[in-house]
Amino acid sequence: MTYGSFTFAGKCVPYEVIESGNDPTGIGRLGDLHFNTVTGVPWVFTSIGWTTADLRRSANGMPKQTHPVALGDRRFSVILKDWKSRNFWYTDNGREEVESWMRMQAAIPVAATGVPSGSLPTAIPAAALNVQSGSSPVPSWSGPSVAAHPSNSWIVNLLQEWTTGPPALVEIQLQRGVAILQALLAFNTPITRLDSSTSTSATCESFGIARRRGCPPTQLLAINDLLAEPDITYSDSFSNMVEDDVSAADFWNVQSLLSNRTPLDRSGRLLAAFDIPATEAGMLSCRYDPPFNIGKGSVVSSLTNAWTLPGAITHPHVDGIACAMHMIHWRGKKLWLLWPATPFNLKLIEHTMTTSSHLDTTLDLIRWLEGLELLFLTQEEYFEYSFCLRPNTIHCCLSFTESCHLGMPVRDIRYLDEMEVVMDWVDDWFRNRLFPNTVICKKEHRQVVEKFLDAVKRWHEVKRQPFDKVLKARLGKVLDDATLLIDNVPVSFFA
Ligand SMILES: [Fe+2]
Repeated sequence: MTYGSFTFAGKCVPYEVIESGNDPTGIGRLGDLHFNTVTGVPWVFTSIGWTTADLRRSANGMPKQTHPVALGDRRFSVILKDWKSRNFWYTDNGREEVESWMRMQAAIPVAATGVPSGSLPTAIPAAALNVQSGSSPVPSWSGPSVAAHPSNSWIVNLLQEWTTGPPALVEIQLQRGVAILQALLAFNTPITRLDSSTSTSATCESFGIARRRGCPPTQLLAINDLLAEPDITYSDSFSNMVEDDVSAADFWNVQSLLSNRTPLDRSGRLLAAFDIPATEAGMLSCRYDPPFNIGKGSVVSSLTNAWTLPGAITHPHVDGIACAMHMIHWRGKKLWLLWPATPFNLKLIEHTMTTSSHLDTTLDLIRWLEGLELLFLTQEEYFEYSFCLRPNTIHCCLSFTESCHLGMPVRDIRYLDEMEVVMDWVDDWFRNRLFPNTVICKKEHRQVVEKFLDAVKRWHEVKRQPFDKVLKARLGKVLDDATLLIDNVPVSFFA
């Protein structure tokens, strides 16, 4: 069983997707889906119970089967096994989905027509994962360079860009990025692609071009921020670890080498600077207006800049706990991989909160996390594009060029549905797996608990603000439960 959800009319609409060899017999929730893997018949739970899905299409290819709650807005996609918004069907994704559906219908006799078994991608050839071998800067990768599903063909261009563009200067990252892109190409189902026309999705909300009252963001402002803060932490994208004793000069040196197309072999470090605080001499002078009702159910924290160099890869992770992230892309070309914070996904990635990620775990997560969405941002088309990752959206990024985005942590009552899901997961994780765990080091235990305490503190700040009483009561209940959980944190976790 997998879980999905979407926001409709400001409310979270959850649903489940069940696969079994039988027709459904039990109870369900409006919009739940059931696939009989023997007969291939998809079922939908409507106001009269389980009914077989209406697989007819309108003249423009839009599925007739609508979601019983989000009538008209969400249409049933048998290939994606999902409810897709009307916008989806107006995009190339929708058209391609319809075309592949037509091809499938033409190729398979009606009696045997079934939903392709399993929605997970096919295995990646072992050669594609052989990322450790070879010391030559010449690419040593092999594996698929065509998409297993026609809707994902656009990723072939990304593979081409990664292997012929600036990331090819960085030996190790070249091969890692190829392995990740090939994992995407191996999906045998369409991967949702977000773009500037997507206003909302399971992972993020788009706000279009950011509202700004000051000057536009520039490299000079970014450098001013970099030099103003003496305690910036730099990460090594090879090891995925925070590096000690790295200065702004070290970072600038690597930046300059790559700008001059000097290859970076394994003896170097591909440095990345995350969480660079914005200062008055720097990015604060842009005077961005966050698109939130600050002070009325919304707390927005300090602005920071993330600066990565070509070939940088962040592995699947979440930022904070129950924390949304408002992002403004302003430089470079970057691919975002996004997964919604479903209970299934959160459980799969909780280990990343206490360990550092590696390529093998990243590839596993790409294969198994549900609801992947992709967002490819370029400087030309998406300068100052503003979007907000919903609380605990799992994400990882590939920088195709030197890239920057601004980020602001957000706790907003509009994300209460997602916050409740996250806090339920935290309660389950802490009590059943984190607290009893004797393998995790004390430092990591403490860091996780500190993040949780910070989340609870911020959401209490939200609760003190004036907003709708019903929502406030719901938030109060979640925070009461959080207090009970804090009371149960072992003393050693605070030591
Ligand atoms: Fe992040």
